[in-house]
Amino acid sequence: MAGIAAGALLVAGCGGAQSALDPHGTGARDIARIWWFMLALSSVIFVIVLALLAVALWHGHRERSAGGPGPHEGLAFVVIGGGLVPLLVLAVLVVVMATGLRGLSASTADPALRIEVVAHDWWWEIRYPDRGAITANIMHLPAGQDVEIVGTSDDVIHSLWAPPLGGKIDLIPGRTNTVVWHVDSPGTVRGQCAEFCGVQHARMAFEVVAQPPAEFNAWLAEQAQGAAEPSDDLARRGRDVFFSSSCVSCHAIRGTAADRNEGPDLTHLAARPSLAALTIPNDRSHLATWITAPQTVKPGGNMPPTSLSSDDLAALLAYLGGLK
Ligand code: CUA
Repeated sequence: MAGIAAGALLVAGCGGAQSALDPHGTGARDIARIWWFMLALSSVIFVIVLALLAVALWHGHRERSAGGPGPHEGLAFVVIGGGLVPLLVLAVLVVVMATGLRGLSASTADPALRIEVVAHDWWWEIRYPDRGAITANIMHLPAGQDVEIVGTSDDVIHSLWAPPLGGKIDLIPGRTNTVVWHVDSPGTVRGQCAEFCGVQHARMAFEVVAQPPAEFNAWLAEQAQGAAEPSDDLARRGRDVFFSSSCVSCHAIRGTAADRNEGPDLTHLAARPSLAALTIPNDRSHLATWITAPQTVKPGGNMPPTSLSSDDLAALLAYLGGLK
């Protein structure tokens, strides 16, 4: 009964948007295949070892009552069972892993697109250098194509990991690491920073949205454009609030004078589904909290609180809400 319950729990952990055993792409499939192979192999070995242990206990019991074993008895078994067999098993694993993981290395692919990821405490900057588009915490890419992900860090070591797509890559200040993702079909998966990087490490998540190539190209063309002009007086006033508050000293809005890179690029902020690296949804009330009291959402984060009159805040929200 307990075994069935444990088994059900185990299998329940294999699904979901952030599971390495629910591969959505070639790299993750290679990793999952190796994982299942290792599980099967180690299960077989585990059963054999338990069976040998049972035999030894039974056999030893009988031999003790018959006067004990001879001096060289069992030496051949130790050499074979303790030396040759483990060597063989490890050799098989080396070959399986070396061939299975070959597809993960960047040099074997001819990527259709290059995306740069810069990790920050505690969010992800996602850049499309060919088109000048920059976003944060959500990566769109074309399904069915090889995409080269080139990652680095702006501060400490982070690790980019979207388990359904492939292995982790460390993002290290001053150097770049590369991985190739190939997502089979359109869909969304979740990724997470996989290297402890400070108090908000756990709230450093991102989404990867794979789209049909035409849809992706339309998205990218939109993201490459500068910010929308404010559509009414309230939003225009909100833009003035933005430029007279501390917002402008950390954020960029392409097409305006705001060009700082300390925080996420806000050019198309309203098109993103979440804020603060997937910590809260991107709607008017959460955005208001994020602007005025970010430390209640993400204590220790670099976003400082901005105190604004309620009129100024309403105007700023109108402006930011128009940045589609
Ligand atoms: Cu970034 Cu952990």
